[in-house]
Amino acid sequence: MAKSIAQECPHMKAAGSAQSSVSAKESASRDLAPMDLPVPSIPKWKANLRFLTQPFQLISEVRAECGDLFLMELPGLGRVVFLCRADLLHEVYRYGEDEVVAGEMRGRHLAALMGDKVSVCLDGDEFKDRRRIIAPYLNGKQVEQCLPRIVGYTEEMIDELRSGAEEELQPRFDHLTQRTIASILFGGQPQEKVDELAVLAHRFLEAFQWRTVQVPFLRRSLGPWSPWSRFLKRRAEFSRVLEAEARRAAASGDTEASDLMSAMVVAGLYEDPEEVIDAVVQEMIGLVVGGAETTSKALSWCLRGLLSRPETKGKLQEELDRLLGDRPMTARDLKDLPYLHAVIHEGLRHQSVGPFAGPRLAKKEIVVGGYRIPPETAMVQALHEVGRGPHFPDSESFDPEHFFGREVKQRDWVPFGGGIRKCTGMGLALVELAGVIGTLVQRTEMELGSGSMEPIQAGIAHKPRNDMRVKFTGRRSGADPS
Ligand code: HEM
Repeated sequence: MAKSIAQECPHMKAAGSAQSSVSAKESASRDLAPMDLPVPSIPKWKANLRFLTQPFQLISEVRAECGDLFLMELPGLGRVVFLCRADLLHEVYRYGEDEVVAGEMRGRHLAALMGDKVSVCLDGDEFKDRRRIIAPYLNGKQVEQCLPRIVGYTEEMIDELRSGAEEELQPRFDHLTQRTIASILFGGQPQEKVDELAVLAHRFLEAFQWRTVQVPFLRRSLGPWSPWSRFLKRRAEFSRVLEAEARRAAASGDTEASDLMSAMVVAGLYEDPEEVIDAVVQEMIGLVVGGAETTSKALSWCLRGLLSRPETKGKLQEELDRLLGDRPMTARDLKDLPYLHAVIHEGLRHQSVGPFAGPRLAKKEIVVGGYRIPPETAMVQALHEVGRGPHFPDSESFDPEHFFGREVKQRDWVPFGGGIRKCTGMGLALVELAGVIGTLVQRTEMELGSGSMEPIQAGIAHKPRNDMRVKFTGRRSGADPS
């Protein structure tokens, strides 16, 4: 039986498990005396400024000067090692938690925004227990069942577009991904409740994206109108409703958890029931951030790539028309749309949603790529650069042929990170991207709109500066697949 795309990326050749033993070459490199980390020549003040305004270009320039692994000191991050090649990331993934941790590092930035009981800020058994409960709800067949809903939300979005007008799709993608994650987290509830939670999630995420909220030293409550106070107010507003829902789920005594929130409540994560409620509220907030922010921006980058190459869009339309004609995409179709998956893989490779992701902290001295990484050093995955490795020739062009009909090893394509901390929501993200991009291309004709598409920061991800403006030129109906 074909594997579900939410379980494994298609077009990927698995190249051994990420947990497999260290290769002979790597062992040899560890036997050599480790070298000290390369540092760039750019003055610190200039690096700080460029990092805030043009992080993707800065990292690319430093890589050209220093190689695929280097040390930089940056605002809010301190001393950080950047890893720009997939095999270096796999070396880091293989270290155990006594040598490399993730939660402690992320907690330094995220605990103030989401709380310190959210799984992304945890390590060890506490993290693993949490992951075991959450992962099944965000991957596999369960998520594929959400596809009709995702296609439905996309159709509703298309109905609102005005023909001949320039429309900003980024806010619409934000809304759509917020509705999707709300339906997964709270799907056991009546639709009106899900919609109410999606609205509160939206208000919270709007504040989460304020630049001042993302900068640690600006997180100060200087009166009720200061951004930090307003952010806290919106988080409290969202948390109150989440808490009421968690208490309702706990009181119901229902052990047949039909959605993720109920599953967490009934799992009895802690002895103290109040601690359980607290953890559930924080986790829901974390998943709303992780689930909506990234996918929404990835939708923009995939669409930008497609619209910048009309012949590629034409090829995708052909594939969709041939299989679907005018009917909506269903979960069964996912395995028969290889070009759509190649487009999505390429979109994630061509423009990463952030200049780096998935920070780790070395707890002991470790060696990566032959370099010595001292204890208490932060490391980040420069995923945009990883997509510019030797496996992707002409890597600045958006070209699904990088994946279509070619064997790309699973370990060379890492937009979702890896090891035990690999993105929890990868399955959902891939289904959502397929449903939205597929439906948009099947149902509409559109062109890139005006304004700069340079990536700018919005919360934990980067979006196009022009909010993904497109010119919607009309609806189309697919050809008869017979
Ligand atoms: C295109 C969309 C997405 C991209 C590109 C993306 C990317 C990533 C990356 C790179 C990481 C870090 C992995 C590592 O440290 O090795 C991550 C972590 C995570 N992602 Fe995603 N993600 C996406 C969508 C989602 C969705 C839809 C959800 C959930 C609904 C989600 C939930 C998470 C969580 C909870 C973590 C933290 C895992 C941990 O505890 O360490 N992500 N994601």
